[in-house]
Amino acid sequence: MSTAAKMDRRTIIDKVGPYDVQKIREDFPILHQQVHGKPLVYLDNAATTQKPLAVIEAIENYYRRDNANIHRGVHTLSERATESYEKTRVAAQKLINAASSSEIIFLRGTTEAINLVAQTYGRKNVSAGDEIVITAMEHHSNIVPWQMLREEKGAKLRVAPINDRGELILEEFEKLLGAKTKIVAVGHLSNALGTINPVKQIARMAHAHNAVVLVDGAQAAPRMVVDVQDMDCDFYAVSGHKIYAPTGIGFLYGKTKLLEAMPPYQGGGDMIASVTFDKTIYNRLPYKFEAGTPNIADTIGMGAAIEYLTRLGIEQIERHEADVLAYATEQVQKIPGVSIVGTAQEKAGVLSFVIENIHPHDIGTILDHEGIAVRTGHHCAQPVMQRFGIPATARASFGLYNTREEVDALVRGIGKVIEVMQ
Ligand SMILES: Cc1ncc(COP(=O)(O)O)c(C=O)c1O
Repeated sequence: MSTAAKMDRRTIIDKVGPYDVQKIREDFPILHQQVHGKPLVYLDNAATTQKPLAVIEAIENYYRRDNANIHRGVHTLSERATESYEKTRVAAQKLINAASSSEIIFLRGTTEAINLVAQTYGRKNVSAGDEIVITAMEHHSNIVPWQMLREEKGAKLRVAPINDRGELILEEFEKLLGAKTKIVAVGHLSNALGTINPVKQIARMAHAHNAVVLVDGAQAAPRMVVDVQDMDCDFYAVSGHKIYAPTGIGFLYGKTKLLEAMPPYQGGGDMIASVTFDKTIYNRLPYKFEAGTPNIADTIGMGAAIEYLTRLGIEQIERHEADVLAYATEQVQKIPGVSIVGTAQEKAGVLSFVIENIHPHDIGTILDHEGIAVRTGHHCAQPVMQRFGIPATARASFGLYNTREEVDALVRGIGKVIEVMQ
C-alpha cells in the first residue's frame, strides 16, 4: 500500500478510537435474537455476513426517496440514484486501492467476476495446449469456470499442491509455471482452511512467465487490508455479501489495459456508445462490462457497507478478528477428540474442525440447538476435503462483531456435542 493510503487509514483509526465490539454489535439488529431459546451466536461469516443498520437504511432510503434508473435520465431522481451508485464505485476503488474507479466493474459477486474473466479474457487469450494454474485449496467458483474454459479451448488445468497445514507449496507452484501458462487464479484467503496465500509473491512469479493473475478476494476483502497495486494482481474479485453488503452484488477489479483489450461479457443497454444494425461501438470502461439495468439498490447498499468498514478501519477489524481466531484456536484445540483442519502459519477468519467419530452434520445440528450458527459440509471446496481425506468439516468463521464470549459459547457447545453423541 502507498504511504499516503496507509496514512489515510491510520487517520481513520485515530479518529474512531479503540475497537468497541459491544458498541459495534448494536449496529447489527439481527444479532440480538434468541435461537432455540439461546442467544444467537453467529459464526457463519465466511458464508455470508450480517448487515449493519447503515446498509439496511441506505437501501430503504433509496427505495423511499431515490428509486430511478441510472445513467440515462436527466430528472432529479435518476441523477440522485446515479450519483449514489457511482459513489460506491469510488468507495470500492479506495477499499482495494485501485488506480482508477473505472477499473471497478459491478456484478453479482465473486462467482460472476471469475466467470467474466474466464469468458472474456480467457476465451480471447487461451488456446489449445495453453495452461491455467490454480491451487488445491480453491473454492469451486475458482475451479469450475476454468474447467469450462479448458473444455472449450483444449487447454490444461494445473493444480499446485498444499501441505498438511493447508499451505500452498510455493516451490511446487513455481514449477508449474512456464511459457504455456496464460492465467494463474488463486484465492487470497481459503474459505475452507483460513490459509492466507502470498499473493504478491505469486503475482511476481506468474508475471515472470507473462501470465495474468486473478485473485479470488471473497474471504480476504472483509478482513484484510487489500492493495491491488501493491499486490500487482491483474484481476481481483469481491462479493458484497461477505463485506457486510447485500447479496446479489459485488465487483471485479481489472487493470485498465487488460479490461480495454477484453471483449464485453454481455450485450445490451448501457454497455454501448452507439448501435447500428451494421456495427456497435462499445462504451468506455467500466460500462462496457455492465450491460442492462444493474442492481442499483444493492450497489448503494454496498457503498454504505464499505463506508462502514472504512469508518471502523480494516486494520482494526483485522486485529480484532485475529485475536478472536487465536483465542478460538487455543480453546478448541484443548478439547479431546477435536482436530483443527487448516493450521497454516498465515491464517485468518476461519476455524475448520472435525470431532472424532462424529459427523459434522450432527455437530452443526446440535450447535444450532445451542443457538450457535456454524457451517458444516465441504464448503464448496470438495478437493480440499479430498486432500485431507475427510468428507466434511464443521467451520466457525468470524466477523467484525464476534467476541471471545461467543468463542466460549462455541467451546461449551462442542462439549455438549461430545456429551450427546458419545
Ligand atoms: C473463497 C471463495 N471464493 C468464491 C466464493 C463465491 O462467492 P459468491 O458465492 O459470493 O460468488 C466464496 C463463497 O463462499 C468463497 O469463500
